[in-house]
Parts: sequence; C-alpha cells; structure tokens
Amino acid sequence: MKKVLLICLFFLAFSSYADDVAEGRAKADVACALCHGANGIATLPNAPNLAGQQAIYVSEQLRNYRSGKRQSDIMSMIAKSLTDADIAQYAAWFSAIKVSVETP
Ligand code: HEC
Repeated sequence: MKKVLLICLFFLAFSSYADDVAEGRAKADVACALCHGANGIATLPNAPNLAGQQAIYVSEQLRNYRSGKRQSDIMSMIAKSLTDADIAQYAAWFSAIKVSVETP
C-alpha cells in the first residue's frame, strides 16, 4: 500500500512539473519571447539568455523584480503582475531548455 502511495505521489509531482514546463512555454511564447527568444536565446542585444538557466535563479530574479529588490525598467513592470504559479512555470520552462556549450 505504501509503495502504491509513493508511486502515486511521484507521478503527481512529476506530472505537475511537466505541466509547469508546458504552461511556462505557452505563456513565455506570448509574454517573454519577444526579448528572450522563443527558445530562450535572447533576440535583443541587451536581454539575457534564459535557456538552460537554473530554475531557482530564474524564480529568485523574478521575485526580486516583483518585490522591487532588483530594479529594471522593463522587468520590474513585467514581474509586477506575475503570480507565484507563473514564476514556477517560467522557471520550469527556461531551465528545461537544453543548451550545449563550446569553449574556445
Ligand atoms: C521587452 C523585453 C523583455 C520582455 C518582454 C521580457 N524581458 Fe526579461 N529581461 C529583459 C531585459 C532587458 C532584462 C535585463 C534587465 C536587468 O538589467 O535587470 C531581463 C531580465 C530578465 C531576467 C533576469 C535574468 C538574469 O540573468 O538575471 C529574467 C529571469 C527574465 N528577464 C524573465 C522574463 C520573463 C519570464 C518574461 C516573460 C514573462 C520576460 N523576462 C519578458 C527584457 C525583457
């Protein structure tokens, strides 16, 4: 019985993570892709790449913009209306993008 419960819990946790990635991707296409790129590689020269970024870093920065701890003309405005769920979804999506690195 305990094993079944554990498997169910694992499945629930995993499926909600997969949902976050999908939701984050759909929302980012509309709200973030203009500057950060549809694949998380920035299209604006002054916007950072977010593809492959650590989820904890992305969510921390979004919270900091939202609270005013970190200031940016653009991002402070965008983050103001984000919910905790939005932030978790964006963090899941951008961190799920696979990037490869080549050093010179
Ligand atoms: C109009 C362009 C624009 C849009 C749209 C935009 N961003 Fe940004 N974003 C920027 C710029 C420019 C910065 C750098 C700001 C700074 O100097 O702090 C930034 C910074 C960030 C950072 C911090 C990255 C780091 O390396 O510290 C995160 C995370 C982020 N954006 C997430 C998002 C998310 C999520 C969305 C969509 C909800 C979004 N951005 C929409 C332009 C944009």
